Amino acid sequence: MKTRIYLDHAATTRLHPKALEAMRPYLDGEFGNPSGMYALGKEAACAIDKARNSVAQVLGCRPQEIVFTGPGTESINAAIKGVAFAQQLAGLGNHIVTTRIEHHAVLHSCDYLAKFGFETTFLPVDSFGTVDPDDVARAVTERTVLVSVMLANNEVGTIEPLPEIAEAVQRRAKALRRRVALHTDAVQGANALSLDVKRLGVDLLSLSAHKFGGPKGAGVLYMRRGTPFLELMSGGGQERQRRAGTENVAGITGTATALSEAQANTERYSEVCGQLSRQLVDGVLRSIPAARLTGHPEQRLPNNVHFSFEGAESDAMLSRLDALGIAASAGSACTSATWEPSHVLTAIGMPLSRAAGVLRLTCGPENTKEEIDHVLSVLPEVVAESRSHARPGLSAK
Ligand SMILES: Cc1ncc(COP(=O)(O)O)c(C=O)c1O
Repeated sequence: MKTRIYLDHAATTRLHPKALEAMRPYLDGEFGNPSGMYALGKEAACAIDKARNSVAQVLGCRPQEIVFTGPGTESINAAIKGVAFAQQLAGLGNHIVTTRIEHHAVLHSCDYLAKFGFETTFLPVDSFGTVDPDDVARAVTERTVLVSVMLANNEVGTIEPLPEIAEAVQRRAKALRRRVALHTDAVQGANALSLDVKRLGVDLLSLSAHKFGGPKGAGVLYMRRGTPFLELMSGGGQERQRRAGTENVAGITGTATALSEAQANTERYSEVCGQLSRQLVDGVLRSIPAARLTGHPEQRLPNNVHFSFEGAESDAMLSRLDALGIAASAGSACTSATWEPSHVLTAIGMPLSRAAGVLRLTCGPENTKEEIDHVLSVLPEVVAESRSHARPGLSAK
């Protein structure tokens, strides 16, 4: 048994050996600036071209539609603010539609835009965390410039019906005779789900490399040709004026290699992680009283398991698990200072007595059945101990 069991793959993943191999030359000898007019620079520019072609192939789009960014957060900020400002400048509207369960990169970008006169509709979700495509369409008005709905939720793992949402938005936009861009935060989806932008029906899609075996601090923004966009980073004009700044050549080559690997192995990933997740769910529901699985029972990321344990406290469980060598997470659970449940748990209507005691366990293909057996052997006691020390008001009825 390894001394450390890593079950927080939604937070980050290990760098894939092939990604490291692809990056190595650009961290060492091939240090040229891709804008350089000499061989060393051209080598670097060529590596970026190759990476762009590879990412475009995976997403089913043109290489020119790919922008290499900093992490997923930057890609999301660029998509939301870039489209919003461009449309506002053209006098085409100031309204955004998104959901209550988006990552803070989306929610806070919308809050930021409020300072510039934008209004955002934050749509509710059902108790599984699923967005209703008809709700999305109904929220689109003659002022709407952008809709942003995540591909899969990072806390509870629910997969959103993006193709249906795209269809509903298109129908509504057509009826209103206007153009409404659809963005998806696909940061959690790259290991298990298709990222084919035509199948998804999106105009913009954001990825973060470290979630799929790439390096930290690197991401991708797909932007359909013709999407109105005002760049956030002004400067040297790199990335066709869409993201200025000397390119992170090693990060870009690592991102492209990791993405190809991840997308070539989605079936195996889903099978292996799905089995481990099922083992976890069956074991926990059998051995721990008042345990519940959060999120959609089927339409969920195969590696995500999220439980609520009524009357327990996330922080106490996480630190006990850490002491036992098990890395897990609560998603974002409660902010301990205020005892507010996370915005996702609030949106799905989870009561505080449950939301205070949640665990997110996200496996990866390198986890083993023996590791899960071990987690299942210690977890009942970890939960029981937390319940016995829980604050008044949280105890299980
Ligand atoms: C759904 C989702 N979107 C966006 C992000 C932000 O990614 P990054 O922290 O790599 O910028 C995360 C990170 O956890 C995420 O899970």
